[in-house]
Amino acid sequence: MAYQLVQLKNGTWSVHSELEKETFHPVIGPVAEAEALYVRQLRLGERAAEFHHTEFVIWDIGLGAAANSVTALESLRHRPGKVRMVSFDHSLAPLQFALENSTALGFLDGYEAQVAGLLQTGQIQFQNGSMTVQWETILGDFPTLLASCTAGNWPSPDAILFDAYSPAKNPAMWSLPLFTRLFEVASIGRPCNLATYSRATLLRTTLLLAGWYVGAGDATGEKEETTVAATSPYLIRRPLDRAWLERAHRSTSAEPLRGDTYQQAPLSAANRERLAAHPQFQ
Ligand SMILES: C[S@@+](CC[C@H](N)C(=O)[O-])C[C@H]1O[C@@H](n2cnc3c(N)ncnc32)[C@H](O)[C@@H]1O
Repeated sequence: MAYQLVQLKNGTWSVHSELEKETFHPVIGPVAEAEALYVRQLRLGERAAEFHHTEFVIWDIGLGAAANSVTALESLRHRPGKVRMVSFDHSLAPLQFALENSTALGFLDGYEAQVAGLLQTGQIQFQNGSMTVQWETILGDFPTLLASCTAGNWPSPDAILFDAYSPAKNPAMWSLPLFTRLFEVASIGRPCNLATYSRATLLRTTLLLAGWYVGAGDATGEKEETTVAATSPYLIRRPLDRAWLERAHRSTSAEPLRGDTYQQAPLSAANRERLAAHPQFQ
């Protein structure tokens, strides 16, 4: 069996991938993590309200079992307007597994029919409280899809839920070319913000070198900090400062990943210079 149900310490249930040996939302559980990490930090409700006259676009990178996307949609159901959720993954197997185990997991409650529709057709539209939702999947290897020219035709994101497996297991999803291209496509439209669970120096240097403004994110459960990034400094509440930059200079794992191999190295001299020149540190 590729996926298993696992009960977390706090009693909630989550999905475990046997292949990657990783549990989705392992610390505080799917809904609590999605609310703390994405809904509150990215201020999805307030930002969606700002754009109620047009569609608010969320990119859900690493759809998996859809805990993040459904929790985000649930948080927006009393806002009038339209949300477009674009979910990326190279497999629908975790979503199929979650639907088959929705009673134990709980987080798909009330969205089972929509998830079944999404699995069948890849694109659904429905009324969710006051909000109209258009939800679609884009399937395939995300780094390859993003690098292709088709990415220019995707609706530009206002917010990104970035939830790949860890950099050590899934390095291609955390590389400098990937975040550089993501910054390029996210900069086309309105200011965009992104959150992710990692606080690794290597991730933060990668985001900065890719052009993003980067800040410390809130704690979620045992993780004392996470990371937020944005195409505009105004969307960052606690920007990384020069003291952080000095620590990054001393770190033994700060050089960005380039491809699909995970390796740890201190920053190169060229990247130290590029980082110091980032407008965030001026
Ligand atoms: C931690 S899980 C995501 C959990 C999910 N966000 C949720 O709320 O249930 C990571 C997901 O990233 C997907 N993934 C990993 N590598 C990928 C790649 N190269 N391209 C697209 N998706 C990928 C996996 O299939 C998996 O569903």
